[in-house]
Amino acid sequence: MKVLAVGGGAREHAIVKSLVKDGAKVFTVMKNKNPGLARASEEILLANEMDIEKVAEWGKSKGVDFAVVGPEAPLGEGIVDELAVHEIPAVGPTKFAAQLEISKEFCRDLLREHKIPGSIDYWVFDNIPDLKALLKDYDKDVVMKPIGLTGGKGVKVMGEHLMTHEDVLDYAQQIIQNKIGGSSRFVVEEKIVGEEFTLQAFADGRRVVPMPSVMDHKRAYEGDTGPNTGGMGSYSMKNGLPQFATFEEVEEAVGIMQQTVDAMRAIEHPFHGTLYGGFILTKEGPRILEYNVRFGDPEAMNVLPLLEDNFVDLCGQIMDSSLPSAVKFAEKATVCKYVTPVGYGVKSQAGEKVFVDEAKIEQTGAELYYASVDERDSDIYTTTSRSLAIVGIDEDIAEAERMSESALQYVSGKVFMRHDIGKPDPIEKRIRRMEAIRRGEIG
Ligand code: GLY
Repeated sequence: MKVLAVGGGAREHAIVKSLVKDGAKVFTVMKNKNPGLARASEEILLANEMDIEKVAEWGKSKGVDFAVVGPEAPLGEGIVDELAVHEIPAVGPTKFAAQLEISKEFCRDLLREHKIPGSIDYWVFDNIPDLKALLKDYDKDVVMKPIGLTGGKGVKVMGEHLMTHEDVLDYAQQIIQNKIGGSSRFVVEEKIVGEEFTLQAFADGRRVVPMPSVMDHKRAYEGDTGPNTGGMGSYSMKNGLPQFATFEEVEEAVGIMQQTVDAMRAIEHPFHGTLYGGFILTKEGPRILEYNVRFGDPEAMNVLPLLEDNFVDLCGQIMDSSLPSAVKFAEKATVCKYVTPVGYGVKSQAGEKVFVDEAKIEQTGAELYYASVDERDSDIYTTTSRSLAIVGIDEDIAEAERMSESALQYVSGKVFMRHDIGKPDPIEKRIRRMEAIRRGEIG
């Protein structure tokens, strides 16, 4: 099989590694030269992934059998529809179905109209007076979300990023003035108290087949402090469940995702691809915070190395609605830690050399996924985005964490990383917090 892969990050490196391992020849389009992707691919095209016509034409000229699209932005731009014009089937949603991620308004409305459990109170505004009227009567904390894509950096929570109603109004003003996320519209949601987890699932238009749950760390600094980022790392437990949740609670989340896919089919826009549910577990069960319409980044690196079924076959089954009822993953824990440029989350220092001793990393047993670096004359340079990810995998999460740390010592340069991800203390802290929430002590 010849496959067109779109995207140049660590998520796409993980996708392409899996495709190649399972027998595909891959042709990859990316903006900067990601050395891992370049080596794994038959051929690469350095181009803007948003130039969807160029991407589709290149795929056609290579005679690919299908395409896999990594990032959300080209999906929102309609790359799957454009590929269809060029008779290339794709693993990923159409432009319409991609609205589940691209428009928070579309997503919330769909959940409400189809009475899907796990939904929460929300309002959509594009002006200050209406927001002021809500805040006058609403006595709970709120969460502010620009309607469109913000790379995970647009969500602001009262009590964390916004301390007062004045702060909420100021942020609304910024969204309106600067069209953050591409629009002056924004969603105001009730703030939900709980513990967050990611549940990714393959979806073939009808059926949802879950992958192991993953816990993501969005904040830049240790102890989950500092600015929001695209994600500094993530971990998953051997049994595939969040350490603070029961099997039944995760099954409830799977049910919410199944009903969402059913709703998309009911409106005649079936969802084919990877559906990413950003959930928060509350005392009353899981609530959906957001959907993404692709693998998570970093979460792809926690699940794809564990996949035991053939990924190329699964891609075919996603496209032709024939997924089996379950997909096999190795029962192992994973710890993924991102290496980023210094200043990432505030002002990244781009153009700095990164030194990676691949042979030594391999000896530790950890997986290495290159992200948004640029390879020039055999040297690797930072860009403004994340540089590379290291993933430790073991039966025991403590050993997986140690493996990721021992590999990280072989990466140097002007780079930054969080060392606390996957360590026992932050994991225990989440268990204890969830217990307190269940007892009604936090809420
Ligand atoms: N981990 C967050 C995302 O992929 O959007």
